[in-house]
Amino acid sequence: MADVSQKTNLPPIPVESIHRYHLKIRDQLRTAFEEVLEGDRFTLGVQLAEFEREFATYCGTFSAVGVSSGTTALTLGLRALGVGPGDEVITVPNTYVATAFAITYVGATPVFVDVDPDTFNLDPSTLADALSEKTKAIIPVHMYGQCADVDAIRAAAPGIPILEDAAHAHGADLRGKSAGSLGELAAFSFYPTKVMGALGDGGITATSNAELDAKLRQLRYMGQTTTKHDHEILGYQERLDEMQAAFLRVKLGQLASQVEGRRRVAAIYDERLSATPLALPAKDVTGKHVYYMYTVLSDEREALRTFLIDHGVGAQVVYPRLVNEQGAYRDHPYRVAGELKVASTLPERILNLPMWAELTDDEVHRVASTVVAFYEGS
Ligand SMILES: Cc1ncc(COP(=O)(O)O)c(C=O)c1O
Repeated sequence: MADVSQKTNLPPIPVESIHRYHLKIRDQLRTAFEEVLEGDRFTLGVQLAEFEREFATYCGTFSAVGVSSGTTALTLGLRALGVGPGDEVITVPNTYVATAFAITYVGATPVFVDVDPDTFNLDPSTLADALSEKTKAIIPVHMYGQCADVDAIRAAAPGIPILEDAAHAHGADLRGKSAGSLGELAAFSFYPTKVMGALGDGGITATSNAELDAKLRQLRYMGQTTTKHDHEILGYQERLDEMQAAFLRVKLGQLASQVEGRRRVAAIYDERLSATPLALPAKDVTGKHVYYMYTVLSDEREALRTFLIDHGVGAQVVYPRLVNEQGAYRDHPYRVAGELKVASTLPERILNLPMWAELTDDEVHRVASTVVAFYEGS
């Protein structure tokens, strides 16, 4: 039996943390900070331009447009696609509210469909019933770091633009093709604890469509054309600032090793937990999984969560409520297409174990031993 009883005096293992990562790259972050501080531009300068170019190259897209958050990237993405009042946008209900809120912000109606039981990603077979003459876009979410099957979604909904919600999926791929390059447009979040995060809020869109790129640049900067004081459309003040862009250039250089660190942690969990009753994350089903989260399913979720926390192991439920059941949707229209057979079971069964690249092997084994101890009744 795994003995975790004497280990509870050890420091707690948080479910997510960036502190050690930042200590490791502190000098590079300081240099980035100094560069911006000593310059004369704090918005729309060289850091942002270079970061956008580097991020687009990483994704394999024509361009990327830095904005103030992932939510903004989704919202402006929908506006760039021309989605508005009277339109419907198909997405999943087991996501962060931002995915659906963006649809509602532009005046369209979210249509929620069910997800695949192995990947928790949009199930392409649901689309036949969900599509209507009002459907203007589909937003698949690359849940927990594994890409939705955008190829199958495209085949099931030909001609409908796809906006990837890639907030969980920096560095992931679908059959070798990078997240961010799979749809007409993609939206990433740089919330600090994401696989790649800023030191504050930030986001970016990626696209290979030059018209969408131009529209997004206008939308994020007050509708301005290339000529100053020429505001052609009702845009927003939602740019990614120079300081965050400079930090993100450092983080982009670290992305591959961050992903490898997360995959190392996942491999230990996969091996150590395979004999427990937990359903473990399906691995690399459609391509490279980057494990933004390591999410298991448990029939005793609440008891397991309490046990882990009591033993100094972080455990978190993401997301505890389907978006269509959030209070905000009491006052805003939405539609559920078909039955949410899989999605509706997730809130009471999902649990995230600690997942960050700087976890030591010993710490990961301690987490695993604590889970094993729960099932062995210690
Ligand atoms: C799936 C998903 N979509 C969108 C967002 C929104 O990103 P942000 O917090 O940067 O606005 C998040 C971030 O938490 C997310 O997890």
